[in-house]
Amino acid sequence: MSTIKEASEKLINGEIVIFPTETVYGIGANAHDEAAVAKIFAAKGRPAINPLIVHFYSIDHVLEYFDLTDIQIDLLKNFSPGPLTLIINNNSNKFPKIVTANKNTIGIRIPQNNIARKLIKTAGFPVAAPSANFSMKTSPTSKSHIDPKLSAKCGAILYDDDCDIGLESTIIDTTCYPFSIVRCGYITKEDIEKKLNIKINLIAPENETNPSSPGQLFNHYQADIPIFINRLNFNECTKGDFKIGHGNMECDFNISQNCDLKEMGQNIFKALHQGNKKKLDGTNVFKRIFVAKIENKGIGVAINDKLNRAKKKGR
Ligand code: TXA
Ligand code: MG
Repeated sequence: MSTIKEASEKLINGEIVIFPTETVYGIGANAHDEAAVAKIFAAKGRPAINPLIVHFYSIDHVLEYFDLTDIQIDLLKNFSPGPLTLIINNNSNKFPKIVTANKNTIGIRIPQNNIARKLIKTAGFPVAAPSANFSMKTSPTSKSHIDPKLSAKCGAILYDDDCDIGLESTIIDTTCYPFSIVRCGYITKEDIEKKLNIKINLIAPENETNPSSPGQLFNHYQADIPIFINRLNFNECTKGDFKIGHGNMECDFNISQNCDLKEMGQNIFKALHQGNKKKLDGTNVFKRIFVAKIENKGIGVAINDKLNRAKKKGR
């Protein structure tokens, strides 16, 4: 465990650093430093066509680099710092092409987590950061989820309590009207429409051909065992299956006794990590993961999107 000062020095020296955010842990680099950003892609095994989100300290920090429209500023004022990423036109020449995977747009986010914000402020530059997991694997929402093989590639690691939100930021594409949510998260379409009095599109999670957010094209959150979702009960389960439930279902991991969607969001990645637990010899403790049906409204839309991606690979 490093201090914020040590971690910021590592960033300044072109190394990569793991740090907490309110959504999931990130693995970051100086967003101006091409070689440092390349280390993130190499460490994660991330396809070069998948752009990174750049993290800023404040709205003023964003405005040092970009001209934003009034409505983009309104979005930031209402939902930042917090779990929202805006895709905007990249009218700055300060970020190497590797960050944006050569696109002429860029993802920007102002995280709320204090350690994340202090890190960016102390380093003195925006930090490009994807989630701190190997490509396609489950995002970490707790320090115990971070793969030691990934931490070994980093100059420093900052830990915090478990992530407050537990789901990655909502991504909204603001480069054309109407705006579209291209990745669902804790902040919902309804939240934004209500606050700003605008209509926005929701790119259907299953619309895998949407070219505006490359990350949505890939498999995600994969465990090393099969995952079955939308279960009304666990009658078909046998010994060695890991059951993720809610309410009064009998299960191995209850993601919310009260069926509260916010709590389910906080816990869903924790439950998937737990179900994918390994023995000392590296083999899986459980055979299969079963997940109870989760209501598809509000934050439930984001949770179901994650689960649908997790169960991929012909399962
Ligand atoms: O909550 C979060 O957003 C976390 C924390 C660490 O901030 N970050 C995160 O990053 O989830 P990552 O790399 O795992 O997911 C970023 C997503 C990818 O699907 C990527 O394709 C999309 O954002 N993205 C980034 N820049 C984009 C751009 N210019 N246009 C379209 N999509 C973009
Ligand atoms: Mg990710």
